[in-house]
Amino acid sequence: MSLRLGDIAPDFTQHSTEGDISFHAWAAGHWVVLYSHPRDFTPVCTTELGYTAKLKQAFADRGVKVIAVSVDDLDSHQRWVGDIAETQGQAVNFPILADADRKVATLYDMIHPNANDTLTVRSVFIIDPKHKIRTTFTYPASTGRNFDEILRVIDSLQLTDSHGVATPVNWKDGDDVIIPAALQDPEVLKAKFPKGYRELKSYLRYTPQPNR
Ligand code: BEZ
Repeated sequence: MSLRLGDIAPDFTQHSTEGDISFHAWAAGHWVVLYSHPRDFTPVCTTELGYTAKLKQAFADRGVKVIAVSVDDLDSHQRWVGDIAETQGQAVNFPILADADRKVATLYDMIHPNANDTLTVRSVFIIDPKHKIRTTFTYPASTGRNFDEILRVIDSLQLTDSHGVATPVNWKDGDDVIIPAALQDPEVLKAKFPKGYRELKSYLRYTPQPNR
């Protein structure tokens, strides 16, 4: 059965470009972005890995560790990272799991046989510090993902956890956020949102981003 939001991300031990990794121990205390690549030496994947590496500080600022999966072996990965540095102007600075036995791809249901029966699709799992899966999405092999969107989702999840708010359509860090409809007690609202709020409907209220 496929993994769903709220499930605990399965633990595993696998080889990687940064040595063998026991996933839960490696992740300890961090958010994690775990994402799959159809295979080594493919053009779209090459651009994605280079761009993700350029976002290292942005991920670190949010307490996030990044880890990639590709169903090729370590020797292949080690040759590929050279090409990524050369063509993307950025060395890969996070582990790539060498999932030649497809242990991780199988555990996380990253191979969708009706798309391709050997390669993974482009899966993304955003996992919180309690190892809980908080976001998943799946793109086809031919479409590169938007890693700025992954950062935006992490910002939204972290804001929900820290301040109990939701984020509206196309929200980005700094924009007004939404007060959950279940919160109606005026005293609680005043205490939780001292900057005040705009009410369009009783269920649709905007407040300035609380941590700004
Ligand atoms: C790519 O990364 O470029 C790619 C991989 C598999 C199928 C299509 C494109």
